[in-house]
Amino acid sequence: MGNQPPALASSRFAQAVEFYRRPLELFQRCRETLGSCFTLRVPTFPAPITFTCDPEAIKAIFAADGTDLIESGSIAAPIFEPVIGKHSMLILDGEKHHRHRALIMPYFSRGQFAKFGDDLVRLIAGQIDQWPKGVRFPIRPRMQNITLQVILRVIFGDRAGLVIAPTLLRKFFGRSPSPLIFMHALQRDLGSLSPWGRYIRLRAEMYQSIAAERDRRLAARLFGNDDILASLMEARDESGNALETQEIIDEIFTLIAAGNDTTATALSWAAYHIFTNQRVLSRLRDEIGAVEPTTERLTSLPFLDATVKEVLRISPIFSFALRRLTQNMKVAGFDLPPGTLIAPSIYLVHHDAKLWNEPARFNPDRFLEARHPTNHFSPFGGGIRHCIGAALATYEMKLVLAQVVTQTELSIDPSYVPHARWIGNFLGPSKNVPVVRHEFTPAREMRAAG
Ligand code: HEM
Repeated sequence: MGNQPPALASSRFAQAVEFYRRPLELFQRCRETLGSCFTLRVPTFPAPITFTCDPEAIKAIFAADGTDLIESGSIAAPIFEPVIGKHSMLILDGEKHHRHRALIMPYFSRGQFAKFGDDLVRLIAGQIDQWPKGVRFPIRPRMQNITLQVILRVIFGDRAGLVIAPTLLRKFFGRSPSPLIFMHALQRDLGSLSPWGRYIRLRAEMYQSIAAERDRRLAARLFGNDDILASLMEARDESGNALETQEIIDEIFTLIAAGNDTTATALSWAAYHIFTNQRVLSRLRDEIGAVEPTTERLTSLPFLDATVKEVLRISPIFSFALRRLTQNMKVAGFDLPPGTLIAPSIYLVHHDAKLWNEPARFNPDRFLEARHPTNHFSPFGGGIRHCIGAALATYEMKLVLAQVVTQTELSIDPSYVPHARWIGNFLGPSKNVPVVRHEFTPAREMRAAG
């Protein structure tokens, strides 16, 4: 075996505690003391993980995706398969993964969700209207309400409100699932009051609802590709084969699960960064206020686009991507054997002072002044596992933020400085960003009145 990346001298237990309590500080410290490639022992993973923030190494890792050098689904499978089903693209590798992506991706890459743009704007406005005034409330649950409605709309189209009963949605998404459901040893059905028992009962109801909708469309011969379910029912691979019923259910379930809390959390970070930065807020209001508020116009505004990118750079919700080597590979000068878990560190690359001027400063202009290659900026990961919902997530973030900044005034207590805390496998702001909403007359209404 050749030279190996350095590791921290602290005990496995100490590393685990720090990883859970202050992961970003731990990553920074590792880079400062160990360099751009280092090894950490992370609980729930059987082997140590080799992190790298060397942009060239990251480029090579993402480029190796889809070859027989690297796999990823098999790492997630033991944790996620019992939770989201065995046909989810998250846990597939190789040919099967490629087939599912090829059948699902066109919907997203062609931006077909934009057909719902006007509906989404109305839906978002309706949700924001319900935000209370004059009292402090955490913004993440409010963002979750929006993103859940958006993903259901895009998946089930006009029937979004009818497919999954509101009571079931509330039970399933009303509180984050217990982290215990991801622990293999605790995945035992001990009745509906146990975490796993409760989870699988609710999931079975969700499955039934999705299957019933598919059957209803088949019986009524309702085809077309406006929404994601329709597009998955229509999709055919090169041999003319469609996805099977359970494959469709698992993938729909995956998209609901992966597309909801992630975007809501990114939007919560966005609210924090924008409403604590008067210059950015004013510029957004000016830019958005100067155009007709059509979805096409709003989603192509340069400063709004730069702001969304800057939010995802400074506070990437996924701090790293994860792959496993299936063959020897040289990474950042180290010879890594097959079986090595290797993690391109999204957070460290986004905060590398050699790549970004003043990386700790929230400054959307950096995305107007220069283009940034994907191995420097990768909030959605890379290679063939690049987030399938990236285009939808950024589209949605722009529509939500355009309305939040022009329709509301939010204040955030100056003493509140969020730290990143784990929400499942990604990082969200501590305390979910407490805000107070104040009376506010949007500029457009002021102009109309006066
Ligand atoms: C701001 C919001 C989001 C962020 C930052 C984000 C980020 C990511 C990242 C980093 C990955 C892993 C990529 C890799 O391993 O290289 C990923 C995968 C994935 N994301 Fe997202 N995501 C977001 C929203 C969404 C949405 C809205 C959807 C669904 C509509 C979605 C569906 C998925 C799926 C299905 C995968 C697995 C892809 C595969 O394994 O082939 N994500 N996402």
